[in-house]
Amino acid sequence: MKVAVLGAAGGIGQALSLLLKTQLPAGSELSLYDVAPVVPGVAVDLSHIPTAVKVEGFGKDDLDQALTGADIVIIPAGMPRKPGMDRADLFNVNASIIQTLAEGIVKNCPKALVGVITNPVNGTVPIVAEVFKKAGTYEASRVFGVTTLDVIRSEAFIAELKGVDVASVKVPVIGGHSGTTILPLLSQVEGVEFTEEEVASLTPRIQNAGTEVVNAKAGGGSATLSMGAAAARFTQSLVKGLQGEEGVVDYAYVAVENGDAAYFAHPVRLGKNGVEEILSYGELSAFEEKAKNDMLETLNKDIQEGFDFINK
Ligand code: 2OP
Repeated sequence: MKVAVLGAAGGIGQALSLLLKTQLPAGSELSLYDVAPVVPGVAVDLSHIPTAVKVEGFGKDDLDQALTGADIVIIPAGMPRKPGMDRADLFNVNASIIQTLAEGIVKNCPKALVGVITNPVNGTVPIVAEVFKKAGTYEASRVFGVTTLDVIRSEAFIAELKGVDVASVKVPVIGGHSGTTILPLLSQVEGVEFTEEEVASLTPRIQNAGTEVVNAKAGGGSATLSMGAAAARFTQSLVKGLQGEEGVVDYAYVAVENGDAAYFAHPVRLGKNGVEEILSYGELSAFEEKAKNDMLETLNKDIQEGFDFINK
């Protein structure tokens, strides 16, 4: 198994790479790419951790080598959000970065499973897909927006609110990955009941959790450690699917035919080709149904922004 992390020297990239060094199956290779000159040092640093995962660092001009033979590519590269900015403000800078990296993937490892973290995810995932389409190598089952952070935040907040064991909390989160497009399905959380007031306050807390971190870091960046943990968990799901494990289900922002929008986070069954099946998110409460319908305009606009960027 070769996993490439693009943007490996940044805050998310370093946290993710550390977790992958300690969690990937023995015999795996971890390929770290970044334009920042510190990346070979990050690789050397990680290589001193005694696990059977080989780490190599690749600088600015070595994207091709970093990607050759990769089975999975995870992309946290890009500019993080500063206080007062929302994810859409990042669009122009990060859209160009993601286009360049996607072109590298198409050239060097067109069969890899690609997990996009670079914000705004609602718009950067369509850009990656369009780059594949232009090259004639697009398979919708291989491109993912990583929304796992919304899932793990929901688990943490619910466990805290209800005083239950966090390991037992499972929360479906659908939609996109910014503001109101993030929709936790609290009505489907097993073993816990929420009052209307709790739903009305917990839902926006989950939706704005990224901003909670941006404000708390006071100019020092956005979520990196929790995002690293989330991305590592999602990468493990991709690995298990590739290894042929049965019944691997996780949440991700994927292309859907005849769905709520062209891209929408769903539960997906993972396998050797990435998405084996897009699963239904089931029945929504009246509150969730309304929140879903209300968010679609924003989500569709975010998706269109990605299409427009790449087809300009
Ligand atoms: C967040 O939700 C950085 O997208 C990330 O905080």
